[in-house]
Amino acid sequence: MTERKLHVPNFELGDDDIDAIAKSAVKDIAKDLRALQEQAQADFDGMILETGVITLDEAYVAQRKNYAMTTSYLSEPAKKHHEQLYQGYAELLTRISAEVDAADKVNVSSAHSPYRSVKKDEVYDLNATYLHELFFANCFDPNSELFQDFYAYMHLARDWGTFDAWMADFMACALSSRSGWVICGYSLYLKRFINVCVDGHDQGVLVGLVPILVIDMWEHAYVRDYAADKKSYLTAMMREIDWEVVEDRVKRVDALKGVMG
Ligand SMILES: [Fe+2]
Repeated sequence: MTERKLHVPNFELGDDDIDAIAKSAVKDIAKDLRALQEQAQADFDGMILETGVITLDEAYVAQRKNYAMTTSYLSEPAKKHHEQLYQGYAELLTRISAEVDAADKVNVSSAHSPYRSVKKDEVYDLNATYLHELFFANCFDPNSELFQDFYAYMHLARDWGTFDAWMADFMACALSSRSGWVICGYSLYLKRFINVCVDGHDQGVLVGLVPILVIDMWEHAYVRDYAADKKSYLTAMMREIDWEVVEDRVKRVDALKGVMG
C-alpha cells in the first residue's frame, strides 16, 4: 500500500502578505457595493418616465366588512340606507384607487387638475369608509355597560375632570357638526383625548388623532327616524355604545403611546 502524502500549504504570513490580502478583500467588497449601487440606480431609473415622474402601482380593491346593526333605535330602512352608503363608498374607493394610479401627474395645478380632484376624493372616501366602520363597530350594543375601572372611563374622566364633563363636551361637539361626525380620539401631539366635530367627511379632521368613539351626525343617520331632533338620535346612540370596543381602542392607544414616547 502506497502512503499518500498531503500537501500542506505554508500559512505563515508576513505583514506584507496580510496587507496585500486585506487590500484585495477591500477591493472585492467595494466592487460588490458598486455593482449593487448600479443595479439599484438601474431599478430606480426604470421607474422614471422621460418627464421625471415616478410611477408606482397604487391600485387596490376595497373590501367592505359586515356589521350587525342590532339596535331598536333605528328603523330597518334607516339601517339599510347606512348599508347602501357604506357599500357605495367601498365601491368608489376601488374606482378612485385606479384613477389615482392612472391620473396625469405632470400637468397638475392647485387651481384645477384631474390629479388634484382625485386625490381630494380619495381622502374624502377613505374617511367616509373608516368613519362608518368605526361607528358601526362602536354603537348598537343593546347590553351596553361601562364600569369605572375601564381605562376608557378613567382616561376620559382624567382629561375632562369628570366623566360627565367629557360626555357634555362630546354631545356639544356632536350637535355642532354640520352633516358630519363627532369623534373622540387621542391626539398624539396634545398627548390627551379630545372631542372634535367634523363637517362632511374631511373638514375638521385633526392631524394625529386616533379615534376611539365615533358617531354619525349626517342627516341620513337621523332624519328618517327622528326628523330634526338630533339630540334624541344622539342620546339613543349613546345608550348603546359598545364600551368593550372603545376599551380595546383605548388599550391600543396606550400601546401606541409607548411607541411614540
Ligand atoms: Fe353615514
